[in-house]
Amino acid sequence: MINVKSFYDENTNTLTYVVYSLGSKDAIVIDSVLDFDQASGKITDFSLQKVIQFLQTNDLKLHYILETHVHADHLTGAQVLKKYYPQAKIAISKKINIVQQTFKDIFHLDEKFPTDGSQFDKLISDNENFFAGVISIKALPTPGHTPACLSFFIDDCLFTGDALFMPDFGTGRCDFPAGSATELYHSVHFGLYQLPDKTRVFVGHDYQPGGRELKFETTIGESKKNNKQLKQETSKDEFINFRTQRDSVLATPKLLYPSIQFNMNAGIMPKPEVNGKIFFKLPISMKLT
Ligand SMILES: [Fe+2]
Repeated sequence: MINVKSFYDENTNTLTYVVYSLGSKDAIVIDSVLDFDQASGKITDFSLQKVIQFLQTNDLKLHYILETHVHADHLTGAQVLKKYYPQAKIAISKKINIVQQTFKDIFHLDEKFPTDGSQFDKLISDNENFFAGVISIKALPTPGHTPACLSFFIDDCLFTGDALFMPDFGTGRCDFPAGSATELYHSVHFGLYQLPDKTRVFVGHDYQPGGRELKFETTIGESKKNNKQLKQETSKDEFINFRTQRDSVLATPKLLYPSIQFNMNAGIMPKPEVNGKIFFKLPISMKLT
């Protein structure tokens, strides 16, 4: 029997989950968040402290710090969590190498930047089953939003990251480099929608459409019936057409460039320059009228 505790970061609409067993005290954290004020360049851990406090208050043993994918809208708190729980392993999909290779080129990073995922403690294979003490975790491949997206299936709970959102919001965008609407359709239609209808789904973001209250839990059955972008009966062509059109008018996420650089390096700060200061890179283009 597992328990799920959610934490919502209002600045980035991100859900962080602590999944834990009260009996054995085993725990994992999924998709942690650091606060980043881009204007001043300041990174703080105000939000993450709530997660740490929860772990400490309940005397939980943190085994894994899991990432559903390389996020493009917030900085991961993985390394900060690891300072408090040095035995915890930071884990992400083995396919992180595709993301690292893609963005190493885009950011023109140092030749030495590793693109084999070695910054992470554990690389997870598709459909791998692994244990956090008594907690059994199955990693389901759900590429599309990024090529290295995983959903984590634990007991009757599924943590979908950005593959599937609440039914009134839909699915994750597929227009980032190496993203694919076709792959996302396959991941959901032939993957997640094959799970039992009663499977509890915990989403990676909630954008509170129409100003409604925060919601982050649904079911596979509910999503198959009511997901506004991808229902059970939605055809592949319908979805791809919709997704491609929608993505073409979406704005670039505010924290895209800092997030990718930081998160694909497992949340390790970039190396200081010779003056001791640390920088994120920002690719610039100019389009004149
Ligand atoms: Fe994402």
